[in-house]
Amino acid sequence: MTDKKTKNRAHWENEEKKLDELVDKAMWPGGEKAVERLAKQKKRPVRELISKLIDKGTRFYELSRIAGFGMNYPEVKDVPCGGMVTGLGKIHGNWTMIMANDSRVKAGTYFPITLKKHMRAQAIADRCGINTVYIADSGGAFLPMQADVFPDDQQFGSMFYNMARMSAKGLKQITLSTGGNTAGGAYIVFMACQSVMIDKLSYSFLGGPPLVKMATGEVISAENLGGATVHTQISGGADNFCKDQSEAIEKVREILSLEPPQKLYSHRYPEAPPRVPEESIYDALPATIHRSINVRKVLEAIADDSAFHEYKKNYAPGRGSNIATGKIRIKGLPVGVIASNGVGIVFVESARKVTEWIVRCSQEKIPILFIQNSPGYMVGTESEHMGIGKYGADMVRAVSCAQVPRIQLVIGPDNGAANYGMCGRAYRPHFLFDTMRGRTSVMSGRSAAGVLLSIEERKREVKGNPMSEEERQAFSEKMIEKYDGEAHPFYCGARILNDRVLKFAEIRDWLAMAFEISLLKPIGEPAFGNFRF
Ligand code: COA
Repeated sequence: MTDKKTKNRAHWENEEKKLDELVDKAMWPGGEKAVERLAKQKKRPVRELISKLIDKGTRFYELSRIAGFGMNYPEVKDVPCGGMVTGLGKIHGNWTMIMANDSRVKAGTYFPITLKKHMRAQAIADRCGINTVYIADSGGAFLPMQADVFPDDQQFGSMFYNMARMSAKGLKQITLSTGGNTAGGAYIVFMACQSVMIDKLSYSFLGGPPLVKMATGEVISAENLGGATVHTQISGGADNFCKDQSEAIEKVREILSLEPPQKLYSHRYPEAPPRVPEESIYDALPATIHRSINVRKVLEAIADDSAFHEYKKNYAPGRGSNIATGKIRIKGLPVGVIASNGVGIVFVESARKVTEWIVRCSQEKIPILFIQNSPGYMVGTESEHMGIGKYGADMVRAVSCAQVPRIQLVIGPDNGAANYGMCGRAYRPHFLFDTMRGRTSVMSGRSAAGVLLSIEERKREVKGNPMSEEERQAFSEKMIEKYDGEAHPFYCGARILNDRVLKFAEIRDWLAMAFEISLLKPIGEPAFGNFRF
């Protein structure tokens, strides 16, 4: 190992340590005291429940773990883990979306970021056609922010709208209520295909005892108003009565044991491990974000047998080669690859090559992996006259219309139109993963500072008060800090602009899981709009 490689590895391992520290904070909101409080309520932390829910010996793929940090809501700065745990696990061999309110975070109430997390998980389940288990324990809307969480589309009501629509498509949704489910939150129990309630632990009502007293003068306990006995024996709003959390988890497993096995809509070849250790990715990626990379080194560490069957490798050297296209297999699944290479600038030639490759993958019905490390499309007279706008638009059209599963992995700059052409969030990839090297923003801090400084300078000159050198410097530094901060994976992860910030050593395993789940639905026929070739 050369010195340079050692430095890269040390850098990224250190960055991933910072990720571990943040994740640790997300896992244990309120520390030991909060766990003790749960124990007094006869409850276990939600991740413990989830580990019992999924098949023995399998793992839980948790999504969006750093959601909610630094949100700076009026009354709350951080919402650890966004207030709920979401992720994918196998129940009786079938991939299932699992969503669980964490009552340690403000009684599991819904902040705007909680809603976003909830509905992102529902969207994955809906898109991939998999069942969902809700472990519900929530005080409903976070009331001080009701105007931001209640009335609009993509706010509180949309969670139940989604439940109804998913159910109409035949997707099973099972709710295990393990605490309070008040007001709107009660619908998560009542709208499930089957719900499970626990004696003297779960409650579900449209108005809790204080509201009932206020509205009607009636004094009634939570248990007698909407406990497990009421809903399983009197109202019929719940279907299964259990004595404690352990029995309830077993009941959910029993309900789902009757589901037919899932089918994979892809040929699966025998799996072969890569010929190089996954850790070699750490060596391949320079600590400086805008330095050139050899993406084939990354593919070597991800692909079965380290084999990359490259398409149009020699096309337009230095321009077309700024994106590598081809095929790999990941744990036996064939996958088309579109991967930024070098400094990743998208030239006309690269855009045309990618468009062609997306169309081919769509015709062959193989899913596509986009590895994003691009600071944008090539600008300037030559590029504009050659049609970067037109051919870049073709690339965006192909990405938008490709009917095959698409996954984006960000390993470097992710700026401007390259975010579109390489299947950023707005292009609805089935999954989007970031890494500690990812930087997602309209432009880099340095470019943004340059553009904004020139605007500011002009304004100040018009006012007859030109900027001094110190002012210029201070302005640039502030802008660089702001833009680079907002591009950072912690900022993006907090806002759920990605589904998880992966460690480099996790990439292969996570991609295999994500492609497998994305291939549980048949792939339709290709249909593209008007190209402008
Ligand atoms: N909005 C804002 N904050 C809420 C809240 C809500 N709907 N429900 C609970 N909280 C906060 C509490 O103020 C408390 O904050 P703190 O830790 O800063 O003191 C924290 O969440 C924990 O609540 P607590 O009541 O101590 O927990 P609990 O386990 O004893 O009870 C509930 C949980 C959900 C049964 C109970 O909090 C409750 O009934 N909340 C109101 C539910 C409601 O009426 N919702 C209607 C909205 S749709």
